[in-house]
Amino acid sequence: MSYNLLKGKRGIIFGALDENSIAWKTALRVHEEGGTFVLTNAPVSIRMGQIDELAEKTGSQIIPADATSEDDLKKLVEQSMEILGGKIDFVLHSIGMSINVRKGKHYTDQNYAWTQKGTDVSAMSFHKVMQTLYKADAMNEWGSIVALTYMAAQRVFPDYNDMAENKAYLESIARSFGYFFGRDKKVRVNTISQSPTPTTAGSGVKGFDGFIAYSEKMSPLGNATAMDCANYTITLFSDLTKRVTLQNLYNDGGFSNMGVSEGVLEAFVDNQ
Ligand SMILES: NC(=O)c1ccc[n+]([C@@H]2O[C@H](COP(=O)([O-])OP(=O)(O)OC[C@H]3O[C@@H](n4cnc5c(N)ncnc54)[C@H](O)[C@@H]3O)[C@@H](O)[C@H]2O)c1
Repeated sequence: MSYNLLKGKRGIIFGALDENSIAWKTALRVHEEGGTFVLTNAPVSIRMGQIDELAEKTGSQIIPADATSEDDLKKLVEQSMEILGGKIDFVLHSIGMSINVRKGKHYTDQNYAWTQKGTDVSAMSFHKVMQTLYKADAMNEWGSIVALTYMAAQRVFPDYNDMAENKAYLESIARSFGYFFGRDKKVRVNTISQSPTPTTAGSGVKGFDGFIAYSEKMSPLGNATAMDCANYTITLFSDLTKRVTLQNLYNDGGFSNMGVSEGVLEAFVDNQ
């Protein structure tokens, strides 16, 4: 169902790799709600993924950009304003990658070059994106910037590895930059803390099947899907949430406030 929530709004969507990506679903929903946008991803992901199909479906152009490269981001922002015909109203940062996770390196045996690369891609890139937008004065007043995160920033999930620190860093950047963006440009900045979701990035985490089944049983409403995340995101891009900023917002079926659920307890109760 469409509510025309984003009619006339222009944006940039980072991170749509394939149809499972949270950014992919968000792009589809933004399109349905009347928003126009540029799609962007790392050049290698554009070659390997299916982003062309999404661009065709949504009538969007693709601009390759490595989110760790200030030059790429500068060009991306300039070209996006040209293509879309004005300043930007919404940005989705949907980017995450840990080489330690990908290569099965244990948390207690980090390769720090990989740790640094993962931090640059997963967290510092968010600062770089916002600094580029801020310096170019590229955001319209009452615009909205959203990044995606996970609750391992607050609680221990051992196999989430160094991504836990990356998400904590990302959430802090949202607050710190959100202050300046709010004060100077009336732009809001938030993170959405999403349930485990079967995507390329998500499924790369060791023991992901157990992870997702556990949180499904723990959450009174069950896990939030990628489409649930897309729907939440469009509300944050819309004018209905104008004074929501500096927040880390849980889209997790209630998981984050649970201690234990009957469904989980059942696995431990002695039925003799
Ligand atoms: N899937 C989950 O369980 C889950 C849960 C909570 C939060 N998240 C977060 O959601 C976001 C989107 O991930 P997803 O689950 O849709 O997986 P995904 O693999 O579909 O998306 C990750 C994206 O990051 C992009 N990326 C990696 N390096 C990049 C770079 N240098 N420059 C630009 N883009 C780069 C990839 O190309 C890919 O499109 C990530 O921040 C992820 O941490 C995912």
